[in-house]
Amino acid sequence: MSRATSRARTLEQLCMAKEVVISTGSGGVGKTTTAAAIGAVAAANLDVKVLVLTVDPARRLASALGLERFGNTEVEVPAEAFTDAGVEPEGELWVAMLDTKASWDELIGLHAPDAETRDAILANPLYQNITGKFVQSHDYVAMERLYEIHASGRYDLIVVDTPPRATPWTSSTHPRGWPTSSLRGCCAG
Ligand SMILES: Nc1ncnc2c1ncn2[C@@H]1O[C@H](COP(=O)(O)OP(=O)(O)OP(=O)(O)O)[C@@H](O)[C@H]1O
Ligand SMILES: [Mg+2]
Repeated sequence: MSRATSRARTLEQLCMAKEVVISTGSGGVGKTTTAAAIGAVAAANLDVKVLVLTVDPARRLASALGLERFGNTEVEVPAEAFTDAGVEPEGELWVAMLDTKASWDELIGLHAPDAETRDAILANPLYQNITGKFVQSHDYVAMERLYEIHASGRYDLIVVDTPPRATPWTSSTHPRGWPTSSLRGCCAG
């Protein structure tokens, strides 16, 4: 997919020009609705594979997209959701909701040098406490998940729906490099 470099004037141009779009802001301003709408417009009008990833534990994205339920595993929104609305989608719309514990455990499985080390880390009470109770663990693993999905190249566009609070999403930190490299050091140590 070619990426426009000039300033985007329409939603479609924005979706063609960017690989990651983050919907962020104060509580109740329309972040989830906007993320769902951007994903739906891109899948409807562009020949792209789009993922809307919500890192907000609230399940509003599911209702915004008319889905019963979804979780850590990416699932495709059925084409009937578009055709029922009289739209023949050009692309594909996928959705996922961050599951903090499952994402941490998958991350350990990805970077542990062997199964024995992986199992030892997963059973470690300190690991379980940090990943389950440490306030920032959700934000950290959300950045990791975004990094992993983006680096995989599975999607042309990733739209992220964020929770209503200041997080790394509002800082200038780019989701490339620091989280994975620091974790790899932990697993190898
Ligand atoms: N452009 C809009 N015009 C009018 N109402 C809207 C608009 N966008 C969203 N809403 C409504 O505002 C409410 C909040 O929207 P939404 O859940 O998308 O916000 P949010 O920023 O994701 O909230 P939260 O911070 O709680 O996650 C919903 O009832 C939604 O239907
Ligand atoms: Mg929301």
